[in-house]
Amino acid sequence: MSIITVKNLQKHFKVSQHHRGVWGALRNLTTRTFTTVKAVDGISFTVAPGELVGYLGPNGAGKSTTIKMLTGLLVPTGGQLMANGRVPWQQRQAYVQHIGAVFGQRTTLWWDLPVIESLALLKHIYRVEDGRFQNNLAEFTTLLEMEPFLHTPVRSLSLGQRMRADICAALLHDPDLLFLDEPTIGLDVVAKERIREFIQHINADRGTTILLTTHDMADVERLCSRVMIIDHGRLLYDGDLQNLQDRFGGKRELIVDFAEAYTAVPLAGAELIHYHDLRAKYQFDRQSISASELIGRLSAHYRVRDLAVREPDIEATIRRIYENGLLDTAQK
Ligand SMILES: Nc1ncnc2c1ncn2[C@@H]1O[C@H](COP(=O)(O)OP(=O)(O)O)[C@@H](O)[C@H]1O
Ligand SMILES: [Mg+2]
Repeated sequence: MSIITVKNLQKHFKVSQHHRGVWGALRNLTTRTFTTVKAVDGISFTVAPGELVGYLGPNGAGKSTTIKMLTGLLVPTGGQLMANGRVPWQQRQAYVQHIGAVFGQRTTLWWDLPVIESLALLKHIYRVEDGRFQNNLAEFTTLLEMEPFLHTPVRSLSLGQRMRADICAALLHDPDLLFLDEPTIGLDVVAKERIREFIQHINADRGTTILLTTHDMADVERLCSRVMIIDHGRLLYDGDLQNLQDRFGGKRELIVDFAEAYTAVPLAGAELIHYHDLRAKYQFDRQSISASELIGRLSAHYRVRDLAVREPDIEATIRRIYENGLLDTAQK
């Protein structure tokens, strides 16, 4: 049973080409030439109820276009799309009653209204019962620490406050599905963390299915056990974050502080990267040896004062996938 089913989804935009210069201007008057941008170019996936999935990719990869089709804002050029039992763009009215969406780049609230009045308007639009509205408002206000700015007009909010108000607005009607397009963009570390905690809480506590796009790898590590990676409108990877690291991650590192100055510190199964001032750095492959085995070998030969194992950077792993386009090996 899946709550989202996407099959060979496509969105192509026709963009008119503007020719520059005098002759170009003349040409613009007489002919219009178009090029096609394949923003989403044949994507398929399913999402099960209650999942929290990261939808990742570099700028221009097609993430927002996908979300816009999933929320019914854009009509696909081709392929199939079902979410919450409906075809979003065909049954938008009924569909939006059960979904929430936050676009980090722009607010869905009324610019000149105080936050609380924007929320009250949404209550009417979504026909949220009084009791449910009061309960949700109280809970979200506390969790998102919105009390200090509930009566402030949206245009006077800081970005972090505005984002929290938008997230609250998207959830007042208890949607089954929540789409978050860059919900932490431009926020400071504290504001990001507060939003992450809230997203996690909503997913765990209410079982809301969440699809999240982000550039922030800390968001991903913190929130998503499953990630989809797209580039140029195509799906490059769909699976476990851990599995992604195993298959495409760089090497792990073992950092060792020795208790005395040894002249040489070779370690079978790992490569010594550098050794200076009692500290050695080794790299090793997670498939061939475990950290604990290495540590065992090490302490059999040397006196060790302290050590640490460092995982490869997820950001670097994902960048490697974008750059190398590991399409064949990466797809499930
Ligand atoms: N309305 C549009 N008209 C023409 N091209 C568009 C439109 N919307 C998006 N695009 C293009 O589609 C591609 C994907 O955009 P988008 O989905 O916004 O990417 P992302 O959210 O991953 O950064 C980009 O090349 C973008 O310029
Ligand atoms: Mg985008």
